[in-house]
Amino acid sequence: MLEDLRSERSATVPFPPGDTSVSLARTRRFAEDPFSLLLESYERFVSIFTLRVFHSNVVFMLGPAANHYITVSHASNFTWRESHFRDLIGLMGDGLLTIDGDFHRRSRLIMLPAFHREHIAASAQAIVDETTSALERFVPGARIDLYAWTRRLALRVAMRALFGVDPDGEQARSIDAARLFEEALSFYTSDYFLRVLRGPRTRWARLQQTARKLDTLIYSEISRRRATGERGQDILSLLLDAHDEDGNTLSDLQIRDEVMTLMFAGHDTTTSTVSFMFYELARHPHILARLLAEQDTQLAGEPPTPAQLVSGELAELEMVLEETLRKYPPAWIGPRRAVEAFEFEGHTVPARAFVNYCSWVSHHLPHVFPEPEQFRPERFAPDAPALPKGAYVPFGGGSRTCIGMRFGQLEVRAIATLILSRCTLSLPEDFTLNIRQMPTISPKSGLPMLVGPRTAATAPSLTAAA
Ligand code: HEM
Repeated sequence: MLEDLRSERSATVPFPPGDTSVSLARTRRFAEDPFSLLLESYERFVSIFTLRVFHSNVVFMLGPAANHYITVSHASNFTWRESHFRDLIGLMGDGLLTIDGDFHRRSRLIMLPAFHREHIAASAQAIVDETTSALERFVPGARIDLYAWTRRLALRVAMRALFGVDPDGEQARSIDAARLFEEALSFYTSDYFLRVLRGPRTRWARLQQTARKLDTLIYSEISRRRATGERGQDILSLLLDAHDEDGNTLSDLQIRDEVMTLMFAGHDTTTSTVSFMFYELARHPHILARLLAEQDTQLAGEPPTPAQLVSGELAELEMVLEETLRKYPPAWIGPRRAVEAFEFEGHTVPARAFVNYCSWVSHHLPHVFPEPEQFRPERFAPDAPALPKGAYVPFGGGSRTCIGMRFGQLEVRAIATLILSRCTLSLPEDFTLNIRQMPTISPKSGLPMLVGPRTAATAPSLTAAA
């Protein structure tokens, strides 16, 4: 904190205009409802402004040009590691998300083959199997919490597909890996003021203890695989054998950090996307009808094939997925810190300033997405007008574009297709959606849904009409 204040005081150029007085109310509002605060600030100051939140000035840059500036054209002037999200290092160590510069570039090159289309396709069966068995609970008349259900499912998928560990196997069950992982994540959903405390018996200390327990599982799996030479289709297997052009391989510590990063980065993002998608479908029966009609003609009662899931060839579902990620981009904020001072749209930003881009607000600017609160998949129809560069950034952009994008899309498509082929989900009448923001956006108190029989539906296809 002191270092943050010192670097703010040593600024050699002014911060962009904004609200820079110390204000507990603003800090609270940022923690509880950043969306409306940022949208309101955009209306006052337009695409770049400063807000004092928590203890320091934070610069926000919003809209297509800002997103492109931070993620693509001037990406090398920003670091992730020193951003406001730096406490993620406590769980993930030096994985892809928290490293910068040459280390990031080299690690990404080593990791990329693990996310090629054919490796991702190899995970499809595991996702379909896990989803099919989890769907046994979806009997007509049941009430389920779709968010909690998907969270559990996504964790099982991650353990199998990323890590090659059987979630029902002896070791994973003996340390209750799923519970430990949830416990570690709960640090990041706790109140900001609790998260900054350090020392014994703080939430930080508990996070460290939980991370060490999870390490036991990860390291023992790494050493078992190294000793036996056993490999599978999972991403851990690929990391164990991965090397760069100079023949450098990953150490056990690097593999541990990458596995933990992938588990973290891939977990709540896909879970939230499935939840928000079904929330919107329950409120838009005509869109649901189009998805069912598409399934009837293209799948004809058969489960989707890995090729169909990887390619995203169910066009109506694809548009619904894209619109869900527009309205509710789970990784809603891109935290960075400026290396050198810079100028953007006539305003200066000091070196070492905290700078964030924000997909959530950028996706709600009416001049870019008219009537942004409306859920309209046709925005993404093949003949819809092209969007400006940087307008649509649910997976970030440039050299830090989400490495798990294909995996996440595959997972959401598979889960959504299988749910849709089995039943209809509706919302209880008294349900109101509240959104939690940290660390990703998700339904605050879960998503209760009522399971009904699958309705046969016919509806005009948007893509056929287009
Ligand atoms: C719908 C699902 C997902 C969404 C919306 C999403 C979104 C994002 C976004 C916006 C970023 C960039 C953040 C920034 O610029 O600061 C990112 C990075 C990342 N994501 Fe995802 N993600 C998803 C799924 C996944 C999955 C399934 C995995 C792992 C299997 C994953 C692993 C990562 C990693 C490792 C990074 C860091 C990449 C780098 O810095 O090089 N994500 N994700």
